[in-house]
Amino acid sequence: MREKGDGFAAAVIAIGLLIVAPGAAAAGGGAAGRAKITVTSGGTCQGCHLGLGDAKLHDPAVGFNHDVHNRPGLGCVACHGGDPKAEDPEEAMSPRRGFRGVPKPSQIPKLCGSCHANSSFIKKFAPNLPTDQLAQYRTSVHGKRLAAGDTNVATCISCHGVHGIRAVKDSRSSVYPTHVVATCAQCHANKALMSTYGIPSDIVEKYKRSVHFEALTKKNDLSAPTCNDCHGSHGATPPGVSSISNVCGTCHVKNMDLFRKSPHAKAFSEIGVGACDGCHGHHDVTVPDDAKIGVGKGTFCGRCHDASDRGGEAASGISAALTLATDTVDRARTEVQDAERKGMLMEKAEIKLQESHQDLVEARTEVHLASVWAVTKRANGAVAAAKAALDAAARARKEIRYRRHGLLIALALILIALVALILKIRKIEQ
Ligand code: HEC
Ligand code: HEC
Ligand code: HEC
Ligand code: HEC
Ligand code: HEC
Ligand code: HEC
Ligand code: HEC
Ligand code: HEC
Ligand code: HEC
Repeated sequence: MREKGDGFAAAVIAIGLLIVAPGAAAAGGGAAGRAKITVTSGGTCQGCHLGLGDAKLHDPAVGFNHDVHNRPGLGCVACHGGDPKAEDPEEAMSPRRGFRGVPKPSQIPKLCGSCHANSSFIKKFAPNLPTDQLAQYRTSVHGKRLAAGDTNVATCISCHGVHGIRAVKDSRSSVYPTHVVATCAQCHANKALMSTYGIPSDIVEKYKRSVHFEALTKKNDLSAPTCNDCHGSHGATPPGVSSISNVCGTCHVKNMDLFRKSPHAKAFSEIGVGACDGCHGHHDVTVPDDAKIGVGKGTFCGRCHDASDRGGEAASGISAALTLATDTVDRARTEVQDAERKGMLMEKAEIKLQESHQDLVEARTEVHLASVWAVTKRANGAVAAAKAALDAAARARKEIRYRRHGLLIALALILIALVALILKIRKIEQ
């Protein structure tokens, strides 16, 4: 409703300005003879700017209609200063009335922070809104570089936009989980820009190939990480080697627990490799499978071990245990399904199949302990459950055979009785 009203007001102002003082509107000239500007939520500032032809002057006024700062009635003056009641542009935009003009990139964090780092002010409008963004921003690579005079980095408006800033939970916001990639990509996928800093520009491309991006965009799983979940939003720094396992571990708790108990925890930190990074990478994490274990081409373990060292031996042992379990479970599943198709009730076998599947899933997680013993223990559990299901399937096959024979005998008996009956009837007729 309000947007419509503003649009209408804008039309009235636009027409009024064109009729009464078209030159003045474009040039920002004197007030004499001007139509009265309808004051919108953005004061005379928005009222007049809505009627200006130049997109640079007009668009901010339009965008502000859905800006989060419009709702609590913080007008254009909240950021630009000036007098929002004055109809005369010279007066409205006079430095004497506090007009600051267009803020430079280097001034923006401080400008936004003037309110967002002021907790008593923010509390009046939004009691639960944190007020640490400026402080965090200053610790980030972005903030530190800006302070050193580099204006290529992200400031508050690079990520949030301006004149149309939305609440972060609004699905149309530029920082909503599904939009963050595009927001960071503005710069981090820019080859020319990134090469001047010597950091890769294919990060976005790689991330888009990851299981995380797929979960986020295809399965709409908002719990999958996007850029800011690993890097932070305001303290955007690369997680260093020591914190990498923490980053992944915030979500993959079990994997991290096992990794920490594994011989790799100490070994990786000694060779300067990040915990999960050493095997999975970080931006292009894909779905791993059993084929990654071993020392051959394309395996994780083969990157650092060969068949002759103890790590390589363990890799082969783990691989063998998982292969045996997978084969047994697969065979059991096929046979149980076959029996079901033939009409047998296989409830107990199904339970065993589920058990074996669960054991196999857990065996794959145990890989993170890098212990043959731990994986084999679980894998043997899977094999035992699968064997129970195989036994049930074998019993079912027997039962099917038995029933088939039974049916044949019954049919033969019926046939004999029928023939006897026919003979009897003929005899009576004769
Ligand atoms: C009656 C019309 C009118 C009013 C009222 C008005 N402006 Fe403007 N504004 C203009 C025009 C025309 C320009 C472009 C010419 C200029 O820079 O003076 C402009 C330019 C600007 C610019 C860009 C300045 C630059 O250096 O590029 C900002 C920012 C701005 N106005 C904000 C405001 C704010 C904030 C208010 C209210 C306190 C306001 N305006 C009130 C007409 C108006
Ligand atoms: C939350 C703070 C904020 C509010 C509120 C705000 N602005 Fe701005 N405005 C900025 C910043 C920051 C820039 C600099 C943008 C940039 O560097 O791209 C800017 C730039 C501008 C410009 C120059 C655009 C250009 O491309 O050169 C105009 C004109 C302007 N604002 C007008 C307005 C008007 C009119 C309103 C109210 C309807 C308003 N602003 C409300 C922060 C704000
Ligand atoms: C590199 C991108 C980036 C920069 C730069 C940035 N932000 Fe954010 N901001 C985000 C993201 C992403 C979120 C949403 C996720 C979150 O709350 O951490 C967010 C959230 C917010 C929120 C809502 C916080 C909440 O917990 O609900 C505010 C307020 C905010 N930012 C203000 C600022 C201010 C002020 C600055 C400048 C000092 C700034 N941001 C700089 C990306 C950024
Ligand atoms: C005059 C004080 C003031 C200034 C300056 C200001 N803000 Fe705000 N901002 C607020 C208040 C108050 C709210 C809460 C509005 C609400 O929830 O009703 C807010 C809300 C926000 C939100 C939405 C947070 C959420 O709920 O998700 C973002 C994002 C934001 N501001 C970013 C900025 C950026 C970026 C700048 C600088 C360009 C800026 N703000 C400048 C006062 C200000
Ligand atoms: C306006 C451009 C811009 C945007 C948008 C932007 N960045 Fe940056 N970012 C840079 C520049 C430039 C650097 C400086 C590179 C350097 O010094 O290594 C940088 C540095 C970084 C670094 C530190 C890299 C290092 O090793 O030094 C991280 C991490 C980072 N950005 C993450 C993000 C994330 C996450 C987002 C989105 C939420 C984002 N950035 C949005 C321009 C941007
Ligand atoms: C699952 C966690 C995760 C996600 C999601 C993620 N990163 Fe990273 N990022 C990392 C890790 C870990 C590093 C490596 C840090 C190191 O080597 O010290 C890194 C490094 C970086 C660097 C520094 C690159 C360098 O070589 O110096 C930048 C810049 C960066 N990421 C930006 C992004 C951007 C932009 C996105 C979103 C497209 C993103 N990251 C998504 C975890 C993540
Ligand atoms: C914010 C939470 C979060 C963070 C942080 C995170 N992940 Fe994930 N991860 C997920 C979600 C959600 C999935 C998708 C699960 C699914 O849909 O199968 C996933 C999937 C995966 C998968 C594929 C699992 C499978 O079997 O399909 C691997 C491997 C993985 N993540 C490794 C990592 C690594 C390595 C890191 C750190 C660089 C990391 N994750 C950081 C949440 C997270
Ligand atoms: C030594 C190599 C290695 C390291 C280090 C490693 N992983 Fe894995 N990870 C694997 C392999 C191999 C698989 C596939 C197992 C399979 O399917 O047989 C896997 C599977 C996974 C899976 C999917 C299976 C499951 O358990 O849900 C996730 C999630 C995962 N890893 C997360 C992580 C995280 C988080 C870290 C860091 C704490 C990490 N990994 C460290 C080798 C590694
Ligand atoms: C990034 C390199 C790297 C990768 C990838 C890697 N390891 Fe290791 N691993 C090491 C280092 C370094 C050590 C400690 C030195 C040593 O014993 O070789 C180690 C030690 C081990 C050990 C302990 C050996 C002992 O002496 O007791 C086992 C077991 C092991 N790794 C298994 C594996 C398996 C299984 C994989 C694949 C799933 C794997 N590793 C992948 C680097 C790696």
